[in-house]
Amino acid sequence: MEKLLFATFIFSLFGLSSNCQNTFNPGEIWLDSNNVHINAHGGGVLYHQGVYYWVGEHKVAGKAGNKAEVGLRIYSSTNLYNWKNEGVGLAVVNEIGHDIERGAILERPKIIYNKNTKKFVMWFHLELKGKGYEAARTAVAISDAPEGPYTYLRSYRPNAGVWPLNYPDSLKKVTFKKEYKTWPEKIHANTRGRFLHRDFENGQMSRDMTVFVDSDEKAYHITSSEENQTLHISELSDDYTNFTGRYIRVFPGAANEAPSICKKEGVYYMITSGCTGWKPNPARSAKTTDIMGEWESLGNPFLGEEAETSFRSQSTHIINIEGKGEQFIFMGDRWTPENAIDGRYIWLPLEFIDEKPFLNWQNTWSY
Ligand code: GAL
Repeated sequence: MEKLLFATFIFSLFGLSSNCQNTFNPGEIWLDSNNVHINAHGGGVLYHQGVYYWVGEHKVAGKAGNKAEVGLRIYSSTNLYNWKNEGVGLAVVNEIGHDIERGAILERPKIIYNKNTKKFVMWFHLELKGKGYEAARTAVAISDAPEGPYTYLRSYRPNAGVWPLNYPDSLKKVTFKKEYKTWPEKIHANTRGRFLHRDFENGQMSRDMTVFVDSDEKAYHITSSEENQTLHISELSDDYTNFTGRYIRVFPGAANEAPSICKKEGVYYMITSGCTGWKPNPARSAKTTDIMGEWESLGNPFLGEEAETSFRSQSTHIINIEGKGEQFIFMGDRWTPENAIDGRYIWLPLEFIDEKPFLNWQNTWSY
């Protein structure tokens, strides 16, 4: 915390406020227009009518800061470098037992805009207060304005009572054991869908997640499900606030987290992480030409030194820079769980060669 205040002081001394910033400096303190380090972790960016809106987890100082004490914060920018604090878009509530009660866990918020309803729809990962990561729910809120305030709608485990579109009939009849002793047995059972079966009636788990609006305006919810072992991609309803029941399993048993997605020249790309909590691990990437079809694994997109820790970061979102054709920014978090508020942002240009994404470290860069 002291370091953070010192850096803030030094930056303001030299007038290095975000007002005059025209580069990205991954891993450094990133000041908003009030000279305060941006507090929007695990977030996403929406572009709407000339303005970018960055929503993220408002963290507080110390370890307890990983729980939601305030809510989900929104910033705005016209150039992606300089950000203005727009306040808390979705605030936690004091009512005991409420889904988003203060002290619950609200993670990885993303906002999408529905052209038909003209509503801004915010999805996020929700864990109920005092229950660790047991609830594994996805939650949704809506607003008439991108910066909010958002009205909380509901949370749930989606897709109750329906099988994924790509789940073979033969596996629907399998009876799984409650426990498996060895790793190979466990992985085999996870891959074949033991948790999918367990949660069939009451809905599938949803932890790390993102949402994505395709060029045909259809929206998708992409989440780490089945005890974080298998990704689920689900179609959202026309108003983006619900699930249609059409979903697929992606990379069964491969333990992907932190999904982020973009589309370039008709190809969808996904960057994910492995599953090691706040500790970084080698990222993964994948591509497909059919978002609800087969995905092809492409390996770790990070290159060079520290590629094995993804430059000590974890993916959260991919930004398509407006007016720059199909140019993208990878948005990642460098977590500091001991002092959550000090978490840093790793934004890097996402480059492509022969339909393969990659990321090189840059101390400072601009688009
Ligand atoms: C990470 C996840 C974060 C947070 C953390 C908790 O794997 O990506 O969003 O949930 O685990 O340990």
